[in-house]
Amino acid sequence: MPAETLPPPARQALSVFPEVFGGRTPELLAMAPGRVNVIGDHVDYNDGFVLPAAIGFNACVAAAPRGDGCIRVRAVSFNETGQFSLADLRPSARLRQAWLNYPAGMAWSLREDGFDLTGADMVLASDVPIGSALSSSAAVEVAVGTALHRLAGLELTGRRLAQLAQRAENDFVGMNCGIMDQFISALAEPGHLMLLDCLSLAYDLVAVPADAVLVIGNTKASRSLVDSAYNERRAQCDDGLASLRTGLAHVSGWRDLGLADLELLRTGGRNVLYRRARHVVTEIQRTMDTAACLEDGRLDEAGTHMFASHESLRDDYEVSSSALDRMVALMMSAPGCFGARLTGAGFAGCAVALVAKGAEQDMADLLVREFPDAHHPVPDVFVSEASAGARALGRGDW
Ligand code: GLA
Repeated sequence: MPAETLPPPARQALSVFPEVFGGRTPELLAMAPGRVNVIGDHVDYNDGFVLPAAIGFNACVAAAPRGDGCIRVRAVSFNETGQFSLADLRPSARLRQAWLNYPAGMAWSLREDGFDLTGADMVLASDVPIGSALSSSAAVEVAVGTALHRLAGLELTGRRLAQLAQRAENDFVGMNCGIMDQFISALAEPGHLMLLDCLSLAYDLVAVPADAVLVIGNTKASRSLVDSAYNERRAQCDDGLASLRTGLAHVSGWRDLGLADLELLRTGGRNVLYRRARHVVTEIQRTMDTAACLEDGRLDEAGTHMFASHESLRDDYEVSSSALDRMVALMMSAPGCFGARLTGAGFAGCAVALVAKGAEQDMADLLVREFPDAHHPVPDVFVSEASAGARALGRGDW
């Protein structure tokens, strides 16, 4: 792969490396993408189906081994270098530099799984927008995990890599996320969405229809407190499911539930849990239906499911915001829009629209023109290809 065809952060990581590490040259370059989820939010941790794609923004790690068991990381975005010793990693002892917990958590998780890692010098550069619900953290975890196991000459499947990256985030960073972001970052295929069964981790690839594109609008609104609200939603789902299992003999998990079963929560006065559960049960069905629509070109119908998903996330799951509702309403008003919804955890960040090919630039212009007002900034708008998942290149490949 000639250097000029590498993504910009990959070129940056390679060129910064010798400056930071005393003239050393990297031996390996690992890259992992962020993602956009077309439908299926807040169901990955409820044994549901999700339908994400990798986007053309990547976390990139240039790396070379060290013999002393120490990992030094330069984070280009923060203009900071941090380090830790592999032997000293403990999830209870979070590192002072918040960004360093993602590489450290990944190293910890690999070692917990029995991987004998070597120390490393690494430069991390990423163009996945941070805090925008496009999985910048999963991209870092997967890129670092790819670099570390390859440097040590070890074999690791994409599926295991995703599971270990999720564990890093759950147990080291303290964010109780599901498997979606790490899985798509590790295993995405260009030109395809992934219909992932989060219970079995089996998946089907769904081609992005030739006559449609994905447009992503970033509200740029602040996402403070997202982690605590997210963890609270998860706990509510666990609570709701526990009540349903106690009351209904045939239920062992979310997949066994129909809408009528949820009445038990409502009659028990647990209205919030009822609405959370209604989102989960209907979203799982919508996600499967959307994949089927995309496969046979029923784009209007796919778009209708996407907007129904937005309404459910807004009204039942309560993870939308005025900025996201505004972005989605503007997207829906644009000519050629099949459907739009918030994407990812919600609260702020991005919305995604399925748009007829050829109409994307007009939609982008409309969003840039009409989204800003006294409370909302000029948004960033991306037209995204469905991109490749994690990969690594050795010296000589660039
Ligand atoms: C975040 C989490 C994912 C998923 C989404 C919501 O991105 O990391 O696991 O739960 O929110 O669908």
